[in-house]
Amino acid sequence: MTPYLEPLPYAKTDLAPWISAQTVEFHYEKHHRGYAEKLAMLLRNTPAASLPLEQILLLSKGLQFEAAAQAWNHNFYWKSLRRESRDGFEAIVTRDFGGFPALRERMIDAAVNHFGSGYVWLYRDRPAASDARLILETMHDADNPLLRDATPILCVDLWEHAYYLDYQNRRADYVAAVFDHLLNWRFAEDNWRKSEPAAR
Ligand code: FE2
Repeated sequence: MTPYLEPLPYAKTDLAPWISAQTVEFHYEKHHRGYAEKLAMLLRNTPAASLPLEQILLLSKGLQFEAAAQAWNHNFYWKSLRRESRDGFEAIVTRDFGGFPALRERMIDAAVNHFGSGYVWLYRDRPAASDARLILETMHDADNPLLRDATPILCVDLWEHAYYLDYQNRRADYVAAVFDHLLNWRFAEDNWRKSEPAAR
């Protein structure tokens, strides 16, 4: 078992036809596993090795940060995928974006206009605040809402390795397919609720 690498929460074929088994195979086994293995190598025989990955990420800089954040971000990305009911999250999306169609448009637009690698994140801006908002923002490379004291809600990987085999340069088609068929809104709801004032 590779430390810091969570098991995929479904079979590699389960995201098809929107994300092929071949993409999941390369993305999980080569890219994601590679970041986790690199982090394990960098932390070997250090006191930080036994800390939870989230803490390692927050304490790290440079190469170690990149490996830790990419290991964490990918664990979170896989859990952001595979459709579950959006009913429980609808009220928040409607309040902060006007509804799922408007959020879809904003997400695709942000992804297409994001230069280079990174992620599109949905995050809760102020954990434990009763008037917290749902924010959509793209971030570069391995950057992550945890570094802004915010709570990640969902993410979509915008690195080319996430979509190039299936969509080539058509990033908008990939993000649209993920939004329409794969985003796990129950995971989003769980992340939001865990960050409510009463839950902390
Ligand atoms: Fe990735």
